[in-house]
Amino acid sequence: MRKLYIAPSLLAADKNNFQSEINKAVKLGVKYIHFDVMDKDFIGHTSFSFDDFKLIKNMHHLINDVHLMVIKPYEYAKEYAQLGADIITFHYEALKEDTLRFDCINAIKKMGVKVGVSIKPNTPVEKIIPFLHHIDLVLIMSVEPGLGGQKFIESSLEKIRRCRDYIDVNNLKTLIEVDGGVNETTGPLCYQAGADILVAGSYLFGHSDVKDRYQKLFKKV
Ligand code: DX5
Ligand code: ZN
Repeated sequence: MRKLYIAPSLLAADKNNFQSEINKAVKLGVKYIHFDVMDKDFIGHTSFSFDDFKLIKNMHHLINDVHLMVIKPYEYAKEYAQLGADIITFHYEALKEDTLRFDCINAIKKMGVKVGVSIKPNTPVEKIIPFLHHIDLVLIMSVEPGLGGQKFIESSLEKIRRCRDYIDVNNLKTLIEVDGGVNETTGPLCYQAGADILVAGSYLFGHSDVKDRYQKLFKKV
């Protein structure tokens, strides 16, 4: 049976109370914490800063899953690798050619960090398939990147299935992560489609029944 992991997304956390928000995630028993980095060129606005990461990183021992939604992933990756990121995922759409994408993948690997590549909802899954042999994680965006609390895009499930099939047929270890609109209905569907890690932001943070909510994500596992 495939294991399912949840990566709480700090984008939805109370930014004035990071420590208590992170404590909640730790108490749930999660393995990953998801940290969203945005810049104006790729998204239109920013989210966390390097200083936020420095602060947050020392508040837990979870795996730092850094999602770069930036136009210059290599530059950001260098900084975040030095600051202690464990997985760095950049966007397929941020770079214009496959050679640049492979260069970035190799550069991140050389930093001693696991590497992921993400596709936006409008990018066909075929584009990411040739990368699956070379990366540790594929991140399927199930909403347009930029904001929490959006509705899950159903066609993401087919993308997850396609990646799962390819990964299994080729006996790869590449993890499939899904990000956006994950809740107690869509989360189990993602797992059934083949996801390994579900990012959950607004579904988990800002609610008093966080433990119940967390457990509901596992109902079809
Ligand atoms: C959006 C971010 C997500 C976001 C998900 O661009 O990448 O990680 O926090 O938020 P929810 O879970 O609320 O859809
Ligand atoms: Zn994210």
